[in-house]
Parts: sequence; structure tokens; C-alpha cells
Amino acid sequence: MNLNEYLQRLRREYQTAALDEAHLPPDPLQLLQRWLEEAIGAQLPEPTAMALATATPMGFPSVRMMLLKGIEDGALVFFTNYESRKAQELEANPRAAAVFFWAELERQVRVEGRVERLGPEASAAYFYTRPREAQLGAWVSPQSRIIPDRAFLEERFRQLAQEYAQQDIPYPPFWGGYRLVPSAIEFWQGRPYRLHDRIQYRLQNGQWLQERLAP
Ligand SMILES: Cc1cc2nc3c(=O)[nH]c(=O)nc-3n(C[C@H](O)[C@H](O)[C@H](O)COP(=O)(O)O)c2cc1C
Repeated sequence: MNLNEYLQRLRREYQTAALDEAHLPPDPLQLLQRWLEEAIGAQLPEPTAMALATATPMGFPSVRMMLLKGIEDGALVFFTNYESRKAQELEANPRAAAVFFWAELERQVRVEGRVERLGPEASAAYFYTRPREAQLGAWVSPQSRIIPDRAFLEERFRQLAQEYAQQDIPYPPFWGGYRLVPSAIEFWQGRPYRLHDRIQYRLQNGQWLQERLAP
């Protein structure tokens, strides 16, 4: 069988769980927290990984994986380089969408909303919780830029490690967090016969509205 034949025939029935309106919290972030806890509890690899989509003001989209580092004050928090491609897109067009997928739990969560920078104090506080090597890595990598070769990174890492051998690594001002403040969150639970459960929460006049969508 060639790959395309395999892709066409690949089928899987989803039957692990269900989404029942009667048992859903009014706040979707609470449900996201619950699902994250279950993904972590199930010992999935990278349970906090999400694909994060941004777009230029012209509407050209781009997407990459990111690690969720917190759910705080109604927002999803992640960290990155403020000069990276995603950061430039977010500065020009502060909207993003994110998707989590936990295959073993047959679950997907989609999040859409506006994005704002986390304050420098909170970003620095998180930076200092990272292992020393990761702190150095943030200084070393001009994220998303073209670099001559791998040696460029390794040489910079070596130099900086030497420079800061006897001292704390300072917080790099070009690195920090973003808050994705959701205006819509959709929970998808796989069900048999492709009749999946989809519950969408939409913010309307400051209230979360709950709606069921066709799969
Ligand atoms: C599982 C996974 C998690 C990642 N987490 C992060 C992250 O938290 N922050 C980050 O800047 N890049 C992370 N990356 C790398 C990004 O996917 C991406 O390569 C990088 O941020 C540059 O993206 P950009 O050029 O669109 O700005 C992760 C990659 C993978 C595969």
C-alpha cells in the first residue's frame, strides 16, 4: 500500500468520552484547565503544547507549536522572543488562534482572541524560573533570523556561558510573555460515527454563551 492509499483508508472510531451540557462549567477556562489536568494526568507527551496561529495585517497566516505556561486572569500565557516572526505579526495584528490536540483523549480545543504583552516584571519572574541553559539560550538565539550556521549558536552560547560564569544571567528585554485573551473557545470530543461533540463558548457582552456546533 502506498502512502496515499494508507491515508485514505486510515479510520479510527472515537469513543472514549462525551461532552454533556449538563456537566459543563459556565467559564470555558475552567474546562480548559480540567482538560489540561486530565492530559497531564494521562502522562501524554507535551500535554501543554498548542499550535499558535498568527497573521499579518494583510491576512497571511502562519502557525507554529508553543508551550502554554499558564492560565492567568482569564488568559493563556506563553513566552517567546519579542523580535521573532510571530512577535512581529502580533505587534502588527494582535490577534491569534491556538489549538490543542490530545490524541489519546480524542480531544481538541480551539481558542481565538486578542493578544497583549505580559508585563516585564512577570516575564522576568518567569525567565528566572527557567534552567540556566534555557536562560542562556534566550540570549543566544536571534529567533526567526537567518544565521550562517549552527556553529554561530554554539559559539555564542560558549561565549555567554563564560561571560556569566560567576553571575546570574540578566533578563533579556527582547524576550517575554504574551497573554492570549480568548473571545471564543471550542471543545471537541470525538464520538462514534463521526458524530462528535462540539461545544463552543462565545463571549457576548461580557458573558460566556454556550452553543453546540454540528461536527
Ligand atoms: C512542542 C514545541 C513547543 C515549542 N514551544 C515554544 C515556546 O514556548 N516558545 C517559543 O518561542 N518557541 C517554541 N517552539 C518553537 C516554535 O515552534 C517556533 O519554531 C519558534 O518560536 C519560531 O517561530 P516564529 O519564527 O514563527 O516566530 C516550540 C516548538 C515545539 C515543537
